Amino acid sequence: MAGFERSPRSPEAVPTVDADGTQPEIWGWCIQGIGQGSNVGISFVSSTMALTSFSKSYILDFQFSSWYPKFRHISIKSTIIKPLTQDFCNYLNADGIFVPKGSEPESPGLENDDEEAESDDEDENKQYSFPELDAKVRECIAEYGAVFPKLNFSSPKDANWILPASAPLKCTSPADVYMLLKSSDFINHDLDPELVFEGCEESPSWERETYELELVLRKWYYMERNREMRCFVRNNQLIAICQRDNNYYDFLNEDETKKQISTAIEEFWGSKIKPVWTSSNDYIFDVLLTRDLRRAHIVDFNPFVTRTDPLLFTYKELQALMVRSQEGPVFRVIDSRSHPTANVNSPANQHNMVPYEALTMSSGRNIQDFSGLWEQSIVESMNSNDDGDR
Ligand SMILES: Nc1ncnc2c1ncn2[C@@H]1O[C@H](COP(=O)(O)OP(=O)(O)O)[C@@H](O)[C@H]1O
Ligand SMILES: [Mg+2]
Repeated sequence: MAGFERSPRSPEAVPTVDADGTQPEIWGWCIQGIGQGSNVGISFVSSTMALTSFSKSYILDFQFSSWYPKFRHISIKSTIIKPLTQDFCNYLNADGIFVPKGSEPESPGLENDDEEAESDDEDENKQYSFPELDAKVRECIAEYGAVFPKLNFSSPKDANWILPASAPLKCTSPADVYMLLKSSDFINHDLDPELVFEGCEESPSWERETYELELVLRKWYYMERNREMRCFVRNNQLIAICQRDNNYYDFLNEDETKKQISTAIEEFWGSKIKPVWTSSNDYIFDVLLTRDLRRAHIVDFNPFVTRTDPLLFTYKELQALMVRSQEGPVFRVIDSRSHPTANVNSPANQHNMVPYEALTMSSGRNIQDFSGLWEQSIVESMNSNDDGDR
């Protein structure tokens, strides 16, 4: 396949929610198709050509509990836990990375030192504990073997480095789930209704949109990232498909394979998604293809707005594809190891990494206790290195 040119990115770009290695576009005056029709008008819009006018209820259609019940038979087994207590929301919002008491796997070595944690400053040293939630999480883990956690929209995938790389985001205890959520920047989006509804039109007073935090536990699978695709539907047409991971894969560059994937997804979308997703004409869905590349499972649905990463496309390109009559979706993959988006031995989301030892040490401790311990451990490790050098 011939290469393609990526549009230049804005250096001041802010991160998207789904920041799989690309950045969003800039805003400005331009001519664009508006809404779901093909009207063309001049307005202050995003030069990205993503939807610029959308309601709160449009956004809420993409939260997990809205779409999952209709698509559970073609998605991954999942459990939605809600309502969550205010105390749990406070815990997620609290500074520092620490796990609540009682959430760890039973192991005497990991017990918190209660005396050490007690202090006069109640807020900073508040001990959290969620026995009921822990029990529900343990039930799910017992049923599914292991779980992949997310909130209404976002998974803590930027924190996947805290668990073994061979099993990204695989949680086998409530502590794993909480630790991932606490270590993630991406989930902050879901914690704050202002961020969730950012850019939405004001709802009419009779349409009060309520937003309630949910914890989603999905059965954990080892997902072959080269079989994950992102698919773009605009004006109720499947206009584009691209690989979701940003590594180069030989087999994805074979013409026969590309044709097979594109056909399988078109068929899957036309028969299983299009007739059921009736709430809007513009959405982005993620799928995992089966090993034979003939069928697919839904991983997620995302709004057609700038906060969803268009990956190997730009929203401007997607806009242009919208008017290409019935030619079928454009399928893009990373077509060379030197592609600007290809990963070059660097882990994704590395900006969010702190040493694993630091996290283990932080368990159940406040930031002052932790920082003291951390300094002490550095001194000790330097001393032991000195010994070793001799
Ligand atoms: N059930 C699961 N088991 C293991 N990995 C998963 C599971 N669901 C998703 N993933 C991995 O996590 C990534 C992000 O999942 P997704 O649900 O789309 O979260 P987000 O909306 O935050 O991007 C996927 O691309 C996939 O690689
Ligand atoms: Mg998503």
